[in-house]
Amino acid sequence: MEEKRVQEISSNVLDTIPAEYIRSEKEQPAITTIHGVVLEVPVIDLSDSDEEKIVGLISQASKEWGIFQVVNHGIPNEAIAKLQEVGKEFFELPQEEKELIAKPEGSQSIEGYGTRLQKEIEGKKGWVDHLFHKIWPPSAINYQFWPKNPPAYREANEEYAKRLHPVVDKMFMYLSLGLDLEPNDLKNGAGGDDLVYLLKINYYPPCPRPDLALGVVAHTDMSAITILVPNDVQGLQVFKDDHWYDVKYIPNALIVHIGDQVEIMSNGKYKAVFHRTTVTKEKTRMSWPVFLEPPPEHEVGPIPKLVTDENPAKFKTKKYKDYAYCKLNKLPQ
Ligand code: SIN
Ligand code: FE2
Repeated sequence: MEEKRVQEISSNVLDTIPAEYIRSEKEQPAITTIHGVVLEVPVIDLSDSDEEKIVGLISQASKEWGIFQVVNHGIPNEAIAKLQEVGKEFFELPQEEKELIAKPEGSQSIEGYGTRLQKEIEGKKGWVDHLFHKIWPPSAINYQFWPKNPPAYREANEEYAKRLHPVVDKMFMYLSLGLDLEPNDLKNGAGGDDLVYLLKINYYPPCPRPDLALGVVAHTDMSAITILVPNDVQGLQVFKDDHWYDVKYIPNALIVHIGDQVEIMSNGKYKAVFHRTTVTKEKTRMSWPVFLEPPPEHEVGPIPKLVTDENPAKFKTKKYKDYAYCKLNKLPQ
């Protein structure tokens, strides 16, 4: 049976939400968020001529927080605005048009338009719809999951992928240098030029009870790194020192998440950030994370130079597809 989209539910409810969207008290944002404190995760200026300083700031942020924002990153604001505009236009199409690129039932890949990602805890659902498709490398792209409408969708996404490359390469380089590795070690450890860029669009429609529901439930990303742009609606939260805090929205900044694969390669020196999203009563929030993922057959493990007698390997070395399978099915790694 076809799954009900949150966008449809949102347009049909007035002041209550179906029971499966009401989180347990352990998770409800109204009870579990530190209000009035907007967490200032480190903001790093990539145009600084002092690269050693950038390396220091990025490595410190990745050890302490697992998340930071970057400004003056070189991606033109225009390219971000276009990506957001065409994504928003797609989600505003009539429902039947969106269903044309729905993830096929039983498909092994997560690509396509959809609502539920994985088995959720206690049968609870997130207040969010999504679209997944790869944007790089060209050999990995399945255009059948790219919207045909609006017609500018393809160009805007190709342009964003192209503009993202230098930022991705810099992130891997700075993260490597921050561990006293060779500049290419982490990128190579994650698959080198075969690294896959998987775009997700999250669409969080208005929710009559934002105090009770969550958009995306708490998780770490299984990618190596995730680079995200949100729209201007507050919603990302990060877990730090036992509490949930809102992450400040900064126009045109990129939010960089350390994912599980970088935590593994760094042998635990860098931390994958535990995060979730909240929703609002009046506004639609959207976000565009790009997951930088190893190719499925690529093996990822702690970088050998970081493993010593005093510092033994903290993680197994395994194929990314096996890691992903365990994570999505909530099996031990
Ligand atoms: C996610 O973690 O998948 C979503 C993050 C966001 O929407 O900001
Ligand atoms: Fe995430």
